[in-house]
Amino acid sequence: MIKKIFTVLLLLGGSCLAASAQDVQLNKGWKFAVGDSAQWSSPTFNDQNWQNIDVAHSWEPQGHPNYDGFGWYRIHVVIPSSLKEKAYLKDSLRLNLASVDDNDEVYLNGKLIAKYGGRSGTIKDGNYGPRTYNISASDPAILWDKENVLAIRIYDTGGDGGIYGDNFSIGMADVMDHVLVNTDGDFTFGENNSLAKAVKLITTNKYQYQGTLAFKVTDPETGAVIYEKSNPANFTAGKPFTYSFVIARLAKKSYTITYTFNDQKSGKEIVRTETTPYVLTPYPSAKPKINGADVYGARPGNPFLYLIPATGKKPLTYKADGLPEGLKLDAATGIITGVVNQKGDYPVTLTVTNKLGNKTKTLTISIGDKIGLTPALGWNSWNAWGLSVNDEKVKISAKEMSDKLSAYGWNYINIDDGWEAENRAADGAIVANSKFPDMKGLTDYVHSLGLHTGIYSSPGPRTCGGFLGSWQHEDQDAKTYADWGFDYLKYDWCSYSEVTPPHPDLPALKKPYELMRSSLNKVNRDIMFSFCQYGWGDVWKWGAETGGNSWRTTGDIQDTWRSMSDIGFGQDPASPYAGPGHFNDPDMLVVGKVGWGPSLHNSRLTYDEQYTHISLWSLLSAPLLIGCDMGHLDRFTLSLLTNDEVLAIDQDALSKGARQVSKTDEQQIWVKELTKGEKAIGFFNTSDKYQTVNLDANDKLLNGFTKARDAWEQKYLIAVNHKYTFKIPPHGVKLIRVM
Ligand code: GAL
Repeated sequence: MIKKIFTVLLLLGGSCLAASAQDVQLNKGWKFAVGDSAQWSSPTFNDQNWQNIDVAHSWEPQGHPNYDGFGWYRIHVVIPSSLKEKAYLKDSLRLNLASVDDNDEVYLNGKLIAKYGGRSGTIKDGNYGPRTYNISASDPAILWDKENVLAIRIYDTGGDGGIYGDNFSIGMADVMDHVLVNTDGDFTFGENNSLAKAVKLITTNKYQYQGTLAFKVTDPETGAVIYEKSNPANFTAGKPFTYSFVIARLAKKSYTITYTFNDQKSGKEIVRTETTPYVLTPYPSAKPKINGADVYGARPGNPFLYLIPATGKKPLTYKADGLPEGLKLDAATGIITGVVNQKGDYPVTLTVTNKLGNKTKTLTISIGDKIGLTPALGWNSWNAWGLSVNDEKVKISAKEMSDKLSAYGWNYINIDDGWEAENRAADGAIVANSKFPDMKGLTDYVHSLGLHTGIYSSPGPRTCGGFLGSWQHEDQDAKTYADWGFDYLKYDWCSYSEVTPPHPDLPALKKPYELMRSSLNKVNRDIMFSFCQYGWGDVWKWGAETGGNSWRTTGDIQDTWRSMSDIGFGQDPASPYAGPGHFNDPDMLVVGKVGWGPSLHNSRLTYDEQYTHISLWSLLSAPLLIGCDMGHLDRFTLSLLTNDEVLAIDQDALSKGARQVSKTDEQQIWVKELTKGEKAIGFFNTSDKYQTVNLDANDKLLNGFTKARDAWEQKYLIAVNHKYTFKIPPHGVKLIRVM
C-alpha cells in the first residue's frame, strides 16, 4: 500500500536532480532533535525549543558526536502555487534532500509522503545516499500558498548520521528530470595532444526530446573559448543520442567542457560540465628501476611474502643478497617467501636486471614486532563495489594490480563488507556467502601474484552493511581469517554501539580494538590491523598503543571536492601521531570509476582535484587504498597511481605526517619531513581561480635546500632571479621535494 503513495526516483548519475531558479530553497531554517516520537511528525507539534541545525553537515559535529539511532528534522515552509504556474510540467512536486544517512521517512503536514526503507524495507537498514522524491501535485497533504511542516525521520546505523549536502529544495518536477548527459566514457589520448571522447544524452522518459546540443571548451586560465560547436540532438527512452568529439593541440592542463542540451518544445535546457584530463607522470624508463619503500617489517616465525616492485622492459630477473636465513627468492618473479625466526634488521641488496642493464637498491627487512612500517598501498572493494563485491571482482582486481600497479609497490587486495554468510557454522565459525565460494582458493591466488589480501568485520553483532560481525567470536574469527590466509583486517565499529553503553568513554572506545588485537596476537600470521571508528575519541592519540596499524580519522569520504578537501585539509591535528607501523587513515581514494556498487561513474572530482587528493594523502603518510574499478583503469587514473616519485613521498621511511604551515581562504601549504633531511611541500590552490606562486629561493620554506624537484613531472624547478614561479590550477596542487 505504501508503494502507491510515493515514488522513489532512480537517480541517473547518482546525484540529486538540479534545482531550478524558482525552486524553494530548503538549505536554512531546520530544527533538529535526537530520539524518536510519533508526535514529531505533527504540524501542530511545537519545535521552537529544538536545536537549529545546519543541513550542510551531518549531526555528529553539531553537538551529537558518535550518535547513532533516530533523529528528526523539521522545517516550516510556504509552497507557492506560482511554482506550478511557471512550470512546463505541472503534475508533480519534487523534493530534493541531498544525502541521507541512512534511511528516512518524510512527513508533510503529518502525512507520510515518502520513505526510503533500505533493502528489506525497514528504516533500520543501512542505505545511505542521495534522495529525491516526487509527490503528486494534487496530493491533499500539500498546502499551497500556506505554511507547511516538513518533518523527516532518520535512522542512522553507524558512522555519520542525518541529512547533509548542498541541494535541499522543493520545486516542480521538470521535463529535464531523468535526462542525463552521460560523460562516463573514457577520454582517449591521441596525436597532436588531442583528446577524443563520446558522450550520451540519455533519458528514461517517453517524451521525445528534440533540440540542439551545444559543445564548448574553455580555458579556465584565460576564460577563452577554444572550441565551440552546435549539433542537432534527438533522443527518448531507449534511444540515446551519442556525440563524439576530438579536440586537438591542448596544452598540459585541464580545460572545461560545457555540454548544453536545449529542448525546442519546452524551451528547457540541461547543462553539464566536466574537465579534461592531462597526464603529468612521465612514462617509466625501459631500464630497470626498483620502487617501493626502503623498509619492510615482518614478525619472526610467521609466513613472509614480499614482491620486489620494479619497472623496466620485461623480462626482468631478480637477485637478493643478504636475505636472512629462512627466506628464498624466485629469480623469475621477484617474490620472496619463507619464514624468518631470528629477530633483527637485515639490509638486503636487491638487483633487477633486463637486457638494458641492472639496478640495485638496499631494502632493510626488519624482523621484529612491527609490521606495516610504511602506509599500505592497495585496493579496497568498498568505494567501487559496495555490497556487490564478489570473488570474480576481487580476482580481476588482483590480476590488474599484478599487471599494472605492483611494479610501483601496490600490494594489498582488500575485501570490504558484503562477504559474510547469513549464519555462522554449527561450531560458531564465520562462513563466507555464495559470492565467495572458496576463500582459501582466493587468497592462494592473490598470494601467487606476490600480493597480500585483506578482509573486513565489525566488533558489533552486525557490520554497517547489516552482515554478521565478530561480536563474541573474536578469537574464532581471527583464527578463521588466518586459516584462510588473510593479511589485513579492517575492523569497523558499526553496530558495536548497541552492545556498549551510550556515549562510550575512552576505555569503552578502546575495548573492542584491544580485544581483537589480543585475538590477532594469538595467530601465526602477520595481519595488519586497520581500525575504522571514524576518528572517535581522537583515535590518533591511542590507536598506536592499542595495536592499530592504521585508524580512520573521519567518516566516509565521497567523490566530491567538499568531502575530499574537508577531510584532507582537516588532518593537521592527527598528523603528529603518524609513525612507522601506525598511520592516520583519512579514508580510501575516490579516483577512477567509483560508485559504491553495483553501477559506477567517473569520480566527480576534477582532474586537478584528483592530483590534490593523491598529493595530500601522500604528504599525510596515509594508506593509499584505491577505491575504483580496477578492471577499467583509464590512462589518467593509471598515471595518477604510478608516479614513483609521488609514491616515494607517501612511502618515506620516516613516516611523518605533513603539517599545515600556512592557510588562507585561497591557499594552503603543507610540509612533510622526509628521510635524509629532505622535505616534501604541497602548495594547494583551494580557490576556483588560477594562482601564480612566486617563491623566493631564500624563503624560509626552502632554507638550507639547494634543489627543488616537481614530484609529478619529475623535473627540477629552475629559479629565475632567485625565484621559483609556477601556476596552480583551481583546486590543484604543486607538489615539490626539496633537497
Ligand atoms: C562504513 C565504513 C566504510 C565501509 C562500510 C561498509 O562504516 O566507513 O568504509 O567499510 O562501512 O559497510
